[in-house]
Amino acid sequence: MNSKQENRGERRAILRGLLATTVAVAGILPLAPSLAADKVKVGLMLPYTGTYASLGNAITNGFKLAVAENGGKLGGREIAFFTVDDESDPAKGPENTNKLVKRDQVDVLVGTVHSGVAMAMAKIANETKTLLIVPNAGADEVTGPMCSPNIFRTSFSNWQPGYATGKIMADNKHKTAVTVTWKYAAGQQMVDGFKEAFQKGGGKVLKEMTLPFPNVEFQPFLTEIASLKPDAVFVFFAGGGAVKFVKDYAAAGLKGKISLYGTGFLTDGTLDAQGADAQGLVTALHYADGLNTPKDNAFRAAYKKAYNAEPDVYAVQGYDAAQLLRAGLEAVKGDIGKKDQMYQAMAAAKIDSPRGAFTLSKAHNPIQDFYTRRVVGKENKSIGIAIKGLADPARGCKR
Ligand code: PHB
Repeated sequence: MNSKQENRGERRAILRGLLATTVAVAGILPLAPSLAADKVKVGLMLPYTGTYASLGNAITNGFKLAVAENGGKLGGREIAFFTVDDESDPAKGPENTNKLVKRDQVDVLVGTVHSGVAMAMAKIANETKTLLIVPNAGADEVTGPMCSPNIFRTSFSNWQPGYATGKIMADNKHKTAVTVTWKYAAGQQMVDGFKEAFQKGGGKVLKEMTLPFPNVEFQPFLTEIASLKPDAVFVFFAGGGAVKFVKDYAAAGLKGKISLYGTGFLTDGTLDAQGADAQGLVTALHYADGLNTPKDNAFRAAYKKAYNAEPDVYAVQGYDAAQLLRAGLEAVKGDIGKKDQMYQAMAAAKIDSPRGAFTLSKAHNPIQDFYTRRVVGKENKSIGIAIKGLADPARGCKR
């Protein structure tokens, strides 16, 4: 840096300080002087194309709604958004993450939907000590072996909804099951969670079937299910893949003959497209329609007003990612440089979520209720709580 640049930098810093002090003295912004002029840079890395595009959009909407409800600020700081479409492509994960971390120099990474991409993000977040808030991807590793003071999740670990769904299926006295899912971390780990609960309840898994993500050629699996005749089928699919599976299952004549279950992603944000073929399906998830709590009612009304659409679980997770960031920024009065203090406040936060209030485990994953839901019309109606306060076991987290 030459001396002219240095001078200019100094002048800018002094000006910024003066401005902030004036505002703070006026009692408008109780911020440290050097902070008021800068925005907190939030990097949204989410899928905006492909089978998970609707999930990425709902998360973005939810996050931005929470910021808008706070006058465009969190913890007194204005927010600047940087956005990258990760296409749910793990191979591009490191490059896309670095666009935000290195090129845009964001303060906070928010992402993503796909477990494989999230693992690339978590690795870079750990290497660069960047704050990462995961608003969907359930990769068990993120709050397991990769757990870290600067990594938080406002959604679930893959194990959680799998386990809750397995419990419902065992409680419903199914004795045999077949599983179908995409062959990547999310599908495999949800199936593992499902098996743990289903086998504990006396169930037996006859066959585990997989296909590559994001393929939707389901016919061979449906033919095999018809011949194996299990009591029930457990699946994980989401977004466009979930729509297609539910429709194909009905078209194959299996609906009503062999009970179909899934983690609630199978029917969340998809019911308009699934129509009659989804009616009656039972799933487990940490969100449901018809909760009828003041917080959820207010959230749903605000979301509908802002976007002219019904919110789903992804919108809730995005909204809560912003709420968690707010809790951290408020604790340090907007001084994002005070990382330890900020992370401690986030770790201890009780998030007033539309799903119901939740706290974080030591590994920074939500401890939350899992609802049993049944599809009625355009709703995943809550018909009870499958498991209260379910915490991920955080296997491999050494904190
Ligand atoms: C994941 O890849 O972790 C994932 C994707 C979509 C979902 C849930 C989990 O709906």
